[in-house]
Amino acid sequence: MSSPLADKNIVLGVTGSIAAYKVADWVRALKRDGARVTVILSKGGARFMSPLTFAALSGNHVYDDMFAITAAEKIPHIELAKQCDLLLVAPASAGSIARMAQGLADDLLSTVALATEAPVMLCPAMNSKMYLHPATQTNIARLEEYGYKVIKPEVGAMACGDEGPGRLPEWHVARNAIFSTFVPQDLAGRSVLITAGPTWEPLDPVRFLSNRSSGKMGYALAAAASQRGAKVTLVTGPTALPLPSGVNSIQITTAQEMYDEVINRYEGIDVVVKAAAVSDFRPDSQSTQKLKKSSTTANTLTLQANPDILHTLGERKGKCHYPLLVGFAAESENHIEEGRRKLREKNLDLMVVNDITGTDCGFGVDTNRVTMLDYNDTTEELPLLSKEETAHRVWDRAVRLLNG
Ligand code: CTP
Repeated sequence: MSSPLADKNIVLGVTGSIAAYKVADWVRALKRDGARVTVILSKGGARFMSPLTFAALSGNHVYDDMFAITAAEKIPHIELAKQCDLLLVAPASAGSIARMAQGLADDLLSTVALATEAPVMLCPAMNSKMYLHPATQTNIARLEEYGYKVIKPEVGAMACGDEGPGRLPEWHVARNAIFSTFVPQDLAGRSVLITAGPTWEPLDPVRFLSNRSSGKMGYALAAAASQRGAKVTLVTGPTALPLPSGVNSIQITTAQEMYDEVINRYEGIDVVVKAAAVSDFRPDSQSTQKLKKSSTTANTLTLQANPDILHTLGERKGKCHYPLLVGFAAESENHIEEGRRKLREKNLDLMVVNDITGTDCGFGVDTNRVTMLDYNDTTEELPLLSKEETAHRVWDRAVRLLNG
């Protein structure tokens, strides 16, 4: 599977909101994901952004007038409606939402919205009082009844100085929702629990023992599961990553905290994926005051073992394959043997082994090269892929195992 957006035709309706300048970047991002983007600029949108900007960024003609048509051209609203795989209206102003909710066909965008059979997604962005007004809320509810997907605006400071809901969502939030239109919904109705990132094992208020995990693989797994319709709980160690949207996240610091959260939550979960790099040991004692080099008498650190979370889940699971247990192993040598050993010893259903010796896979980078081993003795080696794509391939296999 390459990008779910590869060769998809996205028609982007840009309407009259100050947030219009932000979606110029979305056009580039959609193209990076392989989509073809055609922009419809409403009259209001054209007051904020020039057609030239979107033409240059999309590489396509920008449509801003329903009646500007030469005899040789096809009728734009019908042609755009037919060729479109997704109509994305972002930012969606209060006026454009009202027009679509009333079924008006008085400009090109509202006409395409009526004529298309493709999914329609809206990102409302406006002053919070306008957004919260019962008229706007009723219009949004009506569009949702029609099957339109409406992404809730973010809460924060508006361009006008007001505070509240009405800000255009961050790109990664919109991107997740767009991806969910194009990926299989084979985790719908399933609950999954994912752990991600490192754990920190404090020595004193300043120092801790940890590892190089960035959390990227675990976060990609959480985003991919959410795109595929799962109810996702993400138990995460400290990372610098934005939390994936639509995911219930629980932030922990130590391995013991991760153990407590996972053990308290795993009942009723269909799949547990342990992508976290859990510290195997913690300092024997934790000083409440900063350790001073002058007062440190020995240069030996005494450690005690942390609980093995996955091993505990494997023991409790016994001979059944529920919940499905997926482990990750970062190895620098004997990858397959080590992966098989851990699969057996921790009683897992699937083990994803990654090679950390390359510069393009493993810690901190956006790509990974993994081998999947399952309890049926199947071995599947994946090529170098983005972590996002690797995550989808892991879910493909987990879903096959889930469905027996
Ligand atoms: N794991 C866990 N709890 C621990 C240690 C590891 O749940 N205390 C999980 C990891 O999240 C991962 C899998 O076990 O999914 C394998 O982790 P890894 O660190 O590769 O293996 P270890 O069990 O620590 O074995 P070793 O130190 O021999 O590599």
